[in-house]
This record gives sequence, C-alpha cells and structure tokens, in this order.
Amino acid sequence: MKLTLSVIKADIGGFVGHSASHPDVINEASESLSKAKKEGLLIDYHITSCGDDIQLIMTHQQGDESEKIHRLAWDTFVAGTEVAKKLKLYGAGQDLLSDAFAGNVKGMGPGVAEMEFEERKSEPVLIFMADKTSAGAWNMPLYKMFADPFNTIGLVIAPTMHSGFAFKVHDLKEHKKITLNAPEDIYDLLVFIGAPTRFAIKAVFSREADEIAAVTSTERLSLIAQRYVGKDDPVCIVRCQGIFPAVGEVLEPFAAPILVEGWMRGSHMGPLMPVSLQESTPARFDGPPRVVAAGFQLAEGKFIGPRDMFADVSFELARQQANEMADMMRRHGPFEPHRLPLEEMEYTTMPQVAEKLADRFIALD
Ligand code: 13P
Ligand code: 13P
Ligand code: MG
Ligand code: MG
Repeated sequence: MKLTLSVIKADIGGFVGHSASHPDVINEASESLSKAKKEGLLIDYHITSCGDDIQLIMTHQQGDESEKIHRLAWDTFVAGTEVAKKLKLYGAGQDLLSDAFAGNVKGMGPGVAEMEFEERKSEPVLIFMADKTSAGAWNMPLYKMFADPFNTIGLVIAPTMHSGFAFKVHDLKEHKKITLNAPEDIYDLLVFIGAPTRFAIKAVFSREADEIAAVTSTERLSLIAQRYVGKDDPVCIVRCQGIFPAVGEVLEPFAAPILVEGWMRGSHMGPLMPVSLQESTPARFDGPPRVVAAGFQLAEGKFIGPRDMFADVSFELARQQANEMADMMRRHGPFEPHRLPLEEMEYTTMPQVAEKLADRFIALD
C-alpha cells in the first residue's frame, strides 16, 4: 500500500508568550482532523506540539503536496487561530502569512515535511520537531545519522546500508538544489551543509534501494515574508531499521548538543536541547532551543504511538550539557557569537540606528 506521511506545522499562537501551545487550540485542531478521518481523507492523525508550534501528523493516500491535504491543514490552522484570538494568545496566527489558501501551504508560512512510500513489514518512524531554531538545525544530525560511521555503525557492518545515502540539499537563498552522495561526495557535501543558515538538507535517500529515508521542512519564514515572523521551527521525518539506521542510531546525534540559530527573538545562537514532549516549553531567555522526538510504528497507515523518545534517562546528560552551553552563550549578552551576525538577525534596529547617526559617521583617515 502506497502511503503518504505528512507533517504540517505552524505557530498560531503562544501560551504564555512564545513558550507553549494552548490545549484549546490543540483540541480545535483535533476536531478538524477527526472529521477528515471520518470522511475518509485521512487514514490516521496525531497532533502534538513543541513549544509554541503545533504539528499535524497525518497519514493518507493523496501523495505529496496534495491540495486536499494542504487545504485541510490550512483550514485547521485558521480554525485554531480563531480560538487563539479569543484567548488573546501571543502572536495568534503568527505563521499564517496569507489571508487566502491558494492550493499549497508552501510559501504561505506553515512548515511541511512529507514522504510517500510503501509501508514495510514493520515501519518504525521518528518525527523530530524543534522550537526556537531554523531549518538548518537538522544538517549535522542528518549527516551523522546517514554518513558518519562514528555515529551509525550500520554504515560499516550492515550490508543493506553499506552503499551509503544520497543527500538532497536546498540553497535557501538562491532557490536551487543539488544531490550529493555519501560516502564519495562527503567533503563537497560538508562545504554546503556546514553553512546551515543558507543550505539545508531537504531529504535523504537509501542508495541501495532508492527509497526515501528522511525529509525535513526547509521553509524560511523570514525569506518568505521579508520581515520578522519568527524562526522556522522545523520538523523532520526519519524512517528507521532495515535499510535505514536503527532507532538508536537516529537518536544518537542529539546526545551531543550543538549550537543552532534561533532562541530569543530568533537572533541568537544557542544549544539544541533534546527534551520530552512535556518539557518542550522554552522559558529561559525564550529557550534554549528544543527538540522532541515522537516515535511511531505504522500499521496499515495507523499511528501506533507516540513513544516520547527523548524522555529516556540517557538524554539527561545532554540536557545538562545544553544548560551549561546556554550559560556560556548567555555570558556574551548582546555580543556575537551569541547574537547572530547582522544579516542573520530576525529583528534588527541597525538600519534605523545607522540612519539616525548618519551625520555623526565620518570617514576614516
Ligand atoms: P534486537 O536484537 O533487539 O532486534 O536489536 C537489533 C538491533 O539492531 C539494535 O540496534
Ligand atoms: P517563535 O519563532 O517560536 O515564535 O519564537 C519567536 C521569538 O521571538 C522568541 O523569542
Ligand atoms: Mg511564537
Ligand atoms: Mg516556535
């Protein structure tokens, strides 16, 4: 059976500030998707949140970029925004950049990660969701999962993975894409994905079986809207086991927290902290950035789960390290490298300040 797994997400209002989602908004979204399931459009769904972002996790048979599915997600977010407005939640409708749906939610604010595949005899999938960060945050974890034998021993000892994976990379500024193969192209690949503000891994494929392994949302709200509308707070779907890395290999990169862009006002570098779904409530300086992992077994398109993968005690040290890294970064206050370089800051008063002081700037001798 060909199945499509779609994760469509948006921030449609924060409770309190940008720290979490409100249960009434999630309930409203549940009603909308439950109706679509009864009507047969969806096989199954699960709604969850990471910080102030709500994720609609859906299975269906409409394929990628289906207008019906995208319209359902859009209408669901619009209905949720109405609830958020009544509660005067913070930034109600924040990620809905347009007033009217035009066939596809791409470029309209919500983030989208979708993949179509034949469900295997056993189909374990992990859905990663992050808050207070942006699309490039998945680059290093995906590289480690699918190209680094120090993370994924299966690349060395599993015959089904030994021929490596292909990485589809998007250039978010020039709107171009390229596919590079691991292991032979890894040095070229790293030239690009090591610059995650501009290049983001969109998808990964098994070269052995030409099967989709992972897909991310790479929309950049600031580029779409040309003004501050929050960081992108991306999602990522990864299939596990068999011809793909084991569940533990897919989770392993998050045990060593790295610095990503986002955090306060979308304008800072901070550690990506792996947390349980319950702990995805960024509070300190609106952060630090969070990542959660919902694990499911799919059974004829039905979601068996979720299991809250980062709730495991083995991620406690990573959380502690992330808190220490957060302290180290906060010590820089308004200075780089905690504050992002000027061109990457989501908010900046630089043009106004420069204009105000234009007369006082004089040429260097
Ligand atoms: P099991 O023997 O528990 O199936 O585990 C196999 C495996 O590959 C774990 O990484
Ligand atoms: P979100 O992108 O999660 O809405 O956060 C915005 C922000 O400014 C946090 O300080
Ligand atoms: Mg928000
Ligand atoms: Mg958010």
